[in-house]
Amino acid sequence: MVLQDHRDVKDQRVYAPIESNSKLSKVGPTLEDRMKQYRESVEQPSQYWARVAKQNFFWKTLWESDDSVFSFNFDKSKGPIDIKWFDGATTNICYNAVDRHIEEGKKDKVAFYWEGNDVGETSAVTYGQLHDEVSKLAYLLKTKYGVVKGTRVSIYLPMITLGPIAMLAVARLGAVASVVFGGFSAHSLSARIIDSESTVLITAEGTMRGDKPIQLKKIVDEALTDAEAQGVACKAIVFERHGRDGVPMKEGRDVWYQDEIAALPAEAASTPVEWVEAEHPLFLLYTSGSTGKPKGLEHTTGGYMVYAHTTFTTTFDYHDDDVYFCTGDIGWITGHTYATWGPLLAGSTSVLFEGVPTHPTPSRWWDIVDKFKVTQFYTAPTAIRALMKGGEAPVKKTSRASLRVLGSVGEPINVEAWNWYYNVVGEGHCDIVDTWWQTETGGHMITPLPGNTPLKPGSASLPFFGVQPALLDPTTLKEVEGAGEGLLVIKHSWPGQSRTIFKDAERFAQTYFPVDGYYMTGDGARRDADGYYWLTGRVDDVLNVSGHRLGTSEVECAVNTHPDVVESAVVGIPHDVKGEGIYVYVCFKEGVEITQKLLDSVKAIVRNEIGAIATPDAVHPANGLPKTRSGKIMRRILRKIAAGQLDELGDISTLADPSVVEELIALKAVWV
Ligand code: WTA
Repeated sequence: MVLQDHRDVKDQRVYAPIESNSKLSKVGPTLEDRMKQYRESVEQPSQYWARVAKQNFFWKTLWESDDSVFSFNFDKSKGPIDIKWFDGATTNICYNAVDRHIEEGKKDKVAFYWEGNDVGETSAVTYGQLHDEVSKLAYLLKTKYGVVKGTRVSIYLPMITLGPIAMLAVARLGAVASVVFGGFSAHSLSARIIDSESTVLITAEGTMRGDKPIQLKKIVDEALTDAEAQGVACKAIVFERHGRDGVPMKEGRDVWYQDEIAALPAEAASTPVEWVEAEHPLFLLYTSGSTGKPKGLEHTTGGYMVYAHTTFTTTFDYHDDDVYFCTGDIGWITGHTYATWGPLLAGSTSVLFEGVPTHPTPSRWWDIVDKFKVTQFYTAPTAIRALMKGGEAPVKKTSRASLRVLGSVGEPINVEAWNWYYNVVGEGHCDIVDTWWQTETGGHMITPLPGNTPLKPGSASLPFFGVQPALLDPTTLKEVEGAGEGLLVIKHSWPGQSRTIFKDAERFAQTYFPVDGYYMTGDGARRDADGYYWLTGRVDDVLNVSGHRLGTSEVECAVNTHPDVVESAVVGIPHDVKGEGIYVYVCFKEGVEITQKLLDSVKAIVRNEIGAIATPDAVHPANGLPKTRSGKIMRRILRKIAAGQLDELGDISTLADPSVVEELIALKAVWV
């Protein structure tokens, strides 16, 4: 594993927490307040989490003893990897996210303000309405599709309220949701339907992204046909978003959501919840790793519920009359934990936005902030960098006076983007919470807390309550003490931790617990003298493109399906908006003429196989790839050539054929 440094740490200024937030802060205004609670959370984790879990949730039956609400084994030499929280207790997360609030008098409180792609398309859903819609869908799933505890249901939707509704309905029945990002291709969708063996897919006929219509049903048709050919018969419930004209529906397989819901009996609006064990699976979310196909990370009910709510309310310093806006899509973990579960468990009002930040103008997000008086706003650095390019005017045109907290997620935030977020968007009156976490962690792991934690631009700062990070020296794999740099690992389980990879416990153990006793994050980090963490990027072959995770091997597999390709190698290159760009080296078959059209067709095939997010930024033809004598591709060299750092190639004498390097450089000069 190689430590790379993607940071830019010229600016070492420390910003004091915003004073008005300090007055509101639930944790307390000083770092000592935070540390006191942190110490309690790590010294007495069982009592700490038992208290939190009892305070904020309804449990049908409780765990046995507050002295042992968890058990875990991170050490393969001592037995199988095993993680359990609140074992023995029973609950239902949908009950906690919806029904409980109604019982507490929040029936008419708005759960979601929905804002469509086009200005003027807008609606609001109260907790009472949410309850009815969720109940009806749950009824439909149960009575017509036989969905029961444990059944997998796939969800492939744009950002409309049906997304959270579907997740809630599935959870109401104790079934397991697998949400697939709406930007993924038919191939990616079918692979996820097949792996999860989903029997139903909840989808829509289409959506708009800015000016661009996206015909989701076409992609769905291809995916379902493919899944069926591979033995997974999956039916589709299709939401009519724009119209039915020209949308083919397959008899016996596809139905319109609106028709089905309208035909339900009155009792459908009061479908009871299924009580499930705390360790009952809640959802699968597929994510890329450094090798092989995407893995279905499994999260379970009780621990995830407690962690989603606790991190949401603490990191965003949520108060009852706040209006929160997360731009993350429900197809990613951010959209799960911080656009759906966290906000709903807290009984909050939040904004769900279907469109893109630049449509119809680059002021769109800030217009939405003003329209709903948003108090907390959560997005990714890549979007901030893209908006920065458009200058300050589109931001300055709006008020944004309601904002208190600005969140960042998905990738390290560079100092320039941090400063712009802080000064231009936040006008110096908002704390920035740079939240480090992963699909696997379920919720925030390292983050500042508003009104409490002094901010250092570019640092995610300190561990959340109960989180025990450590740095391992990459050579000795021993813990680094004090200030230093290393592989970021976590020493103790936390409630939101993913429990396994669906159908592949072995891969889970190998990937995340290669060093006995530690959860390996795959990220590198530096810890400064104040104990602040500075994330330095992935240490494995995972790319982070616009905050989206992509495995280099996944992109290579897609490239290799091209009929003219012999082999390929993919590396990341620094990209000023996306953070990291995709750079593909391709060896074509003998006799194939290299043309711009050919190189473009390589881009197109990746786009079709995975989705637009994986479109390569550059395709570099190669006669051969630099390999060691044992046949391993030397990506380090490929990264340097891609980035044009030719004087930093290092030792190339260990290559089986050192002359390929010169050839690659020469071909770059012609084509890239
Ligand atoms: C990266 C997204 C630096 C990191 C929630 C991690 C970050 C991967 C940050 C997980 C941050 C996420 N600072 N890097 N604040 N947040 N990352 O699973 O490399 O899509 O391992 O989860 O994103 O990506 P994932």
